[in-house]
Amino acid sequence: MTRDPRRNYATAMHALGIDIGGTGIKAAPVDVATGQLLAARQKVDTPHPALPDALAAVVKELNTSFAWSGPVGITFPGVVTDGVTRTAANLDKSWIVVDAAALFAEATGNQVRVLNDADAAGVAEMKFGAGIGERGTVLMLTFGTGIGSALFTAGVLVPNTEFGHIEIRGRDAESRASEHAKELHDLSWGKWAGRVEEYLEHMEALLSPHLIIVGGGISKESDKWVPRLTGIRARIVPAALLNEAGIVGAAMATASSGIPDTSGPAGTGN
Ligand code: BGC
Repeated sequence: MTRDPRRNYATAMHALGIDIGGTGIKAAPVDVATGQLLAARQKVDTPHPALPDALAAVVKELNTSFAWSGPVGITFPGVVTDGVTRTAANLDKSWIVVDAAALFAEATGNQVRVLNDADAAGVAEMKFGAGIGERGTVLMLTFGTGIGSALFTAGVLVPNTEFGHIEIRGRDAESRASEHAKELHDLSWGKWAGRVEEYLEHMEALLSPHLIIVGGGISKESDKWVPRLTGIRARIVPAALLNEAGIVGAAMATASSGIPDTSGPAGTGN
């Protein structure tokens, strides 16, 4: 019998990372010790409406396409406690309250850990990207459909911060300063950077971070807006892992007891 070489991924230090976003769902097997992807990542469009069963079918499809047997880490764009999704600002509201760890464990036949998308991206950046070796207070922010946040001190994550939803000028911050808001209102780089700076001033007043890591798709063009953020004391650096941070962080969550939270009742995590 020929052995499927892909099955070799499923050793203790390898996990399948799946990153659920509003437009696409990306996956790849990851070596969690090095942060390297073990195969080219695959991407599937997010089904609309993004109902739990429809997303579970996509997760199953991705798991099958890698012939994966082993731990699976999955990001979710909302609050996740104990494997249960609690909010869904930019996803179908039927996700409020779902035992996602159990749903995806059943779909994949594997042990699954589910965590917030920005937390996953932050964990990956701290270990393999822009936050390597940073012991002070680090705030990772992802600018995309919404604004996601991950907060670290001494390298330890405080899970499920939701700093994209602080109120600025009477509105949810992400509705003014996300990448989506820039597109929706056709804002110039200067105008949008002004909104981001106002947002960061608020965050700095509340948290006094030493370092702010800015991620999300728009961090690819950081030269167009980060140099304009002159009124912020903290160092501001673009994320280093870009599109892969969510996948890598999701996979890392399956193997690390240093990522506090939220193991699911499905017997996932630690
Ligand atoms: C959600 C966060 C999420 C962020 C980025 C926000 O609207 O509330 O949980 O991390 O979007 O997806």
